[in-house]
Amino acid sequence: MTLDVDDLLARLTLEEKAALTSGSSFWYTAPVERLGIPAIMVSDGPHGLRAQPGVGDHVGIGGSLPATCFPTASALASTWNPSTLRRVGEALAREARASNVSVVLGPGVNMKRSPLCGRNFEYFSEDPHLAGVLATAMVTGIQSLGVGTSLKHFAANNQETDRLRVDARVDERTLREIYLPAFEKVVTSAQPWTVMCAYNKVNGLSASANPWLLTTVLREDWGFEGVVVSDWGAVYDRVPALLAGLDLEMPPALGRSPEAVVTAVRDGGLDESVLDDRVARVLRLVSRATEAAGAGETFDLDAHHALARAAAAESVVLLTNNGSLPLDPSARVALVGELARTPRFQGAGSSQVNPTRVDSVLDAAREVLGEVAFAPGYPLEDRPTADADGAALLDEARAVVRDADVAVVVVGLPASHESEGFDRTHLDLPREQLEALRAVAEEAGSTATPVVVVLVNGSVVRVDEVLPHASALVEAWLGGQAAGSGLLDVLTGRVDPSGRLAETMPLRLEDDPSFLNFPGDSQVVTYGEGRYIGYRGYDKADRQVAFPFGFGLSYTDFELSDLVVGTTGAVEDDDLAATVAVRVTNTGQRAGATVVQCYVADPEASVDREVRTLQGFAKVTLEPGASEVVEIVLDQRAFSWWSVQLDRWVVEAGRFVVAVGQHSRDLALTAEVHVDAPRVAPPLTRDSTLHEWLADPLGRELVTAAVAGGEPGAAMDDELLPVVGTMPMSTLANFGGLSLGHDALDAVAAEWTARH
Ligand code: BGC
Repeated sequence: MTLDVDDLLARLTLEEKAALTSGSSFWYTAPVERLGIPAIMVSDGPHGLRAQPGVGDHVGIGGSLPATCFPTASALASTWNPSTLRRVGEALAREARASNVSVVLGPGVNMKRSPLCGRNFEYFSEDPHLAGVLATAMVTGIQSLGVGTSLKHFAANNQETDRLRVDARVDERTLREIYLPAFEKVVTSAQPWTVMCAYNKVNGLSASANPWLLTTVLREDWGFEGVVVSDWGAVYDRVPALLAGLDLEMPPALGRSPEAVVTAVRDGGLDESVLDDRVARVLRLVSRATEAAGAGETFDLDAHHALARAAAAESVVLLTNNGSLPLDPSARVALVGELARTPRFQGAGSSQVNPTRVDSVLDAAREVLGEVAFAPGYPLEDRPTADADGAALLDEARAVVRDADVAVVVVGLPASHESEGFDRTHLDLPREQLEALRAVAEEAGSTATPVVVVLVNGSVVRVDEVLPHASALVEAWLGGQAAGSGLLDVLTGRVDPSGRLAETMPLRLEDDPSFLNFPGDSQVVTYGEGRYIGYRGYDKADRQVAFPFGFGLSYTDFELSDLVVGTTGAVEDDDLAATVAVRVTNTGQRAGATVVQCYVADPEASVDREVRTLQGFAKVTLEPGASEVVEIVLDQRAFSWWSVQLDRWVVEAGRFVVAVGQHSRDLALTAEVHVDAPRVAPPLTRDSTLHEWLADPLGRELVTAAVAGGEPGAAMDDELLPVVGTMPMSTLANFGGLSLGHDALDAVAAEWTARH
């Protein structure tokens, strides 16, 4: 059913219009029965549906309809595979259609500013390019089947501490280059049906009432056509929010919201045409949702579980391997770790899914390997192992390892360590888990039995106490309901590990660039590290890390060669592009997949720039001995930075370095690209420095000519120039050192402006 929006706008009363810009209940928009406007249903979330057709809640407390729990965003991002994200998106849409859900509330593309953020499991990466490309694929997948998405949480929602009130103070270049691009990429390439504004403030204004974010950036700069919906309860002041660009408040602040809007229109504080604009957007959303509605449809539970398993396996990142993986099929395996039996496969909060089934590591291991000895090794509750139970658990773990050919120890973060709603305060694994690992390693050490360690966590943990005991270390993330079977696929070698880190694993929390400024206090958090989050910060400070961004091993080896970079287009035409071609060869004995990663450096920039940033990647699967040329296209943005002075993206002329490899610190192949571009500089004025005037061809000509008439003065002297060159011309005019008085300076500045 298509709604005639113009006709409806003419017939709706003021009260009905106001009601339409707030929901009618937790998960439903407001219907207007007399005009045939139905309510549509929205539901979380990013890695599985949490449909609550009855009474709802937004913190994951109440039950929801069974749905496939796919790997969380941290895990999915480690696939570095847009087509996997797209397939998961399509499956989410099929489940949404079956439950009559019109808009899936996800994905979340907030940057992982700090590894401590309790909600990092719901976010993709510390890198905006990677997050943007993967989220675009997921949104495209969901929307291709007539279900909407809600890209969230816009913007600068990078912590849970005081998330409803905290003011994220972040400079514009950092916002434009780090915190906004993933949103921008999805909006400009996939037009999500809705964008969800964040709870927090951004530079003093609530995201829900921030005209710069909701109108200037989102609509005017990026051309967003959909509905801006509030995070649940994020509207603190109804009318300013509506004026700033918020279209739909969810859920309604019952008894207050529509009344506030009606009163504002009557009092003249809100022009009714503004309200009409917001209502029209909501109606267009309702219209497209009802046109596409799929009630009564079903989906294939088994096929979705199989997809969840494949995605979980592809998410696994192999961090070290001394040859103990893949497991020898005839090996006697001892499995240790309560998390293998009582799996943690998703995070808590609004994204929590009621899974259709769950494969634990223990069940999957027994199914695939036959007999597997198991010992829990540690309790999942906060119980010290020093007591009798603890000692008994350690003894039991030692005993199962004694008769094994290989030990697999599963450790990770208990649910109480990370969740929506609060942040972690450290990166440590629980003490009793490390004790269990040490006990197993000691026992295994006496018979040279390898110890494979599997990590289960939503965001990175500290591994320095794990590494000495691990013959192989595997990062399995929170891999969804099929995490156990997906993990076994990798451990047994049925699937080559092709996951790569989408976030740096630091040696210690204190090394993280955001450490000194996270999570702030007194309702303020200052993004003091600026653009230097994640690998950008570690690389700039040349700091050691446990495992770098982009890292991950395969069971086979890949070699990259024959890098060729060619450019087309021109900066002036806004269509500069570079094609990066590289040959990838599987030089090992097994089939496998790797991710070719392409980073760009701008060593000649006139402004501060990162050592390198990820600007393109491609995943390739190759049979042993096979080889393929991979092409990655970089667009103009890959070479750009945001100029606050010019209020736009700029590319400077000069030499760029394109570096290609298999992770951010393994970039053996490099090529130089020379870019022609107009000189980038803010307009010259009386207050520009002498250096700035002399660096500009016309500026130099005008200044030199103006001083040539008289004595050039001491300031132009070679020895003094480095010192006084940094002074504004107006100051030099005060001193008279340049023989260029105020009147002459005015004339020079006017002439320069006139010729631009
Ligand atoms: C979360 C959102 C979620 C919403 C609805 C909020 O608390 O921040 O991500 O979509 O609740 O459950």
